[in-house]
Amino acid sequence: MTAIASPKNLWLGRWGFVLAATGSSVGLGNIWKFPYMTGEYGGGAFVLVYLLCIAAIGVPVMMAEIALGRRGRGSPIDAIRRVTRESGRSRWWSGLGWMAMLCGFMILSFYVVVAGWAVSYLWKSVTGGLAAHSVEGMAAIFSANNANPWNLGFWSTLVTLATMAIVGLGVQAGIERSVRWMMPGLVVMLVVMIVYALFSGSFGAGVHFLFAFDPGKLTGQAVLAAMGHAFFTLSLASGAILTYGAYLPADQSIGRTTLMVAICDTLVALMAGLAIFPVIFANGMDPASGPGLIFMSLPLAFQQMPLGGAVETIFFLMLTVAALTSAISMIEATVAWLNESHGLSRVRAAWGVGILLWVVSTLAMLSFNVGADWKLAGRHFFDWLDFLTSRFLMPLGGLGTALLAGFVLRGESLKEELGLPSAVHALWRFAIRYVCPLAIVMVFLDALGALGAAFDWRWLAAVLVLALIAEVAILRRHGRQGG
Ligand code: PHE
Repeated sequence: MTAIASPKNLWLGRWGFVLAATGSSVGLGNIWKFPYMTGEYGGGAFVLVYLLCIAAIGVPVMMAEIALGRRGRGSPIDAIRRVTRESGRSRWWSGLGWMAMLCGFMILSFYVVVAGWAVSYLWKSVTGGLAAHSVEGMAAIFSANNANPWNLGFWSTLVTLATMAIVGLGVQAGIERSVRWMMPGLVVMLVVMIVYALFSGSFGAGVHFLFAFDPGKLTGQAVLAAMGHAFFTLSLASGAILTYGAYLPADQSIGRTTLMVAICDTLVALMAGLAIFPVIFANGMDPASGPGLIFMSLPLAFQQMPLGGAVETIFFLMLTVAALTSAISMIEATVAWLNESHGLSRVRAAWGVGILLWVVSTLAMLSFNVGADWKLAGRHFFDWLDFLTSRFLMPLGGLGTALLAGFVLRGESLKEELGLPSAVHALWRFAIRYVCPLAIVMVFLDALGALGAAFDWRWLAAVLVLALIAEVAILRRHGRQGG
């Protein structure tokens, strides 16, 4: 195996990792999925569970992934093989790496279709193709865009090509160079959107919807959805963060960078909500209109507002950029693995995977037209890809990562890699050993209905609060022992 950590495979700039990892985590999940899920699951209560999941599960798992990546310096499969060898543990844990790679590939297969919607809407907004005056009119545009497989296929193929071209160029010349200008651009566009919502939308109604807490709306399914989305939005358990971690220079702090990425990601999701819901409410539309929310309700709302056309273009450009910086991270693990373990050049690896991706994503794309009737248990292929990854593969991968990092590997190995002050390390260890596995298992069982009707979300909240108290106790004890 060639070492992946040759100098040309380390982030060049001080901000390289943070930009790339934030680029990976900020994506369609924040701007498309989070708002429509919040709308479907009833607002504030869902948002609160989601935030809890980010803090209690997402952050510790992300730190573990980055540490595993940097310790093992390789694609998920190779990195896990190296760290387990170092600790004298079974190499079978590298199965976790295989699962992550598969998960990243499956996500990308439906992600390029949604990203294709974004690019096609960008095109439409520039060329005046979004000029309908009713919800029905907008819905008709959305359906027409989907109905023709050649049209939809064209846009998703474009996204696939762009993704593969960037990844093929390499870590520094491809990924790092592109995120260096795309991420600041994204922030500027988002700020423009919020200022616009502040002056033109029903800002108060939007804020109320996002933050008003109504526990009655929380079901087991909603909690599982919130947890799955926490993994999705932070790009966990899919090879992305672990592989980017493999390129992290040894002198950068894993704790600090993780916090930065998680905070940026959360802020962008909330800001996207604050940019979108006021506009929806100002025009008396339904926040629970599902995956089409930003493609149907939002453009219609823009039509009715001053300067709406320009802001609409900015919005879809922002969506496209966000999608692209995430897409490249989903396939990096596979390209790195082919490059490292099979000696393929990056360019060849990228195009090889790209062809396979094109085939699978085309099948996903057909769910919206030719294959509209190809359903299994009520779901299209597209829905299955989303459902299986967010609800099963990612929580399961997170559970595996927590067990590997918390129990299987020798304690000193990751301790050295994380390099945290000892009290903070104790906190992380407690979270990864107990909070994460317990929460994930409980949420799973509840969603499967295995805990019965007596169970409700307050149990989970109680466990998390107990965990928090215990964490503080550990922290204080360490403090008294002088570090
Ligand atoms: N985090 C990305 C988003 O929110 C999606 C993603 C998932 C990216 C998994 C990489 C890996 O859109």
